[in-house]
Amino acid sequence: MTIEFRLNGRAATVTASPWRRLLDVLREDLGFTGTKEGCGEGECGACTVLIDGEAVNSCLVAAGQVSGREVTTIEGLGGDALHAVQDALVRFGGTQCGICTPGIALTAARILAREPDADRARIRELCAGNICRCTGYQLIVDAIIDAAGHIKSEEP
Ligand code: FES
Ligand code: FES
Repeated sequence: MTIEFRLNGRAATVTASPWRRLLDVLREDLGFTGTKEGCGEGECGACTVLIDGEAVNSCLVAAGQVSGREVTTIEGLGGDALHAVQDALVRFGGTQCGICTPGIALTAARILAREPDADRARIRELCAGNICRCTGYQLIVDAIIDAAGHIKSEEP
């Protein structure tokens, strides 16, 4: 099946079984290896991408389901520059081994787009599907709050 969708703001076409995991299409067929695989069963969030702006686990999405939709991976999150949340994760040390980081950055971007005033408790709640075995989450949440402040300060 030929699957046409938009990937990081550009038209994308791939020939694959509609049942193939989106995670595998992104990484293996299209070379977007920024999307990571952890558990492979919807528990860890390492494979998070945005589909039409919503954070989803790409290991649980069949490729055919993204036909005609907009997919954003970590490679496309900030355009030509780092997204504010990527920049903050680096500055705050909210990333260590990095396996969880793309998924957390995409989840955080979704939070900041939809709930820019989310407080620390709400951010922790919304990030609950993204497991990090390294940082202890404190620095991740600090980074997301800092990024929210930067985004607001740049709004007209
Ligand atoms: Fe998809 Fe863990 S690899 S949720
Ligand atoms: Fe290693 Fe999060 S930085 S799992």
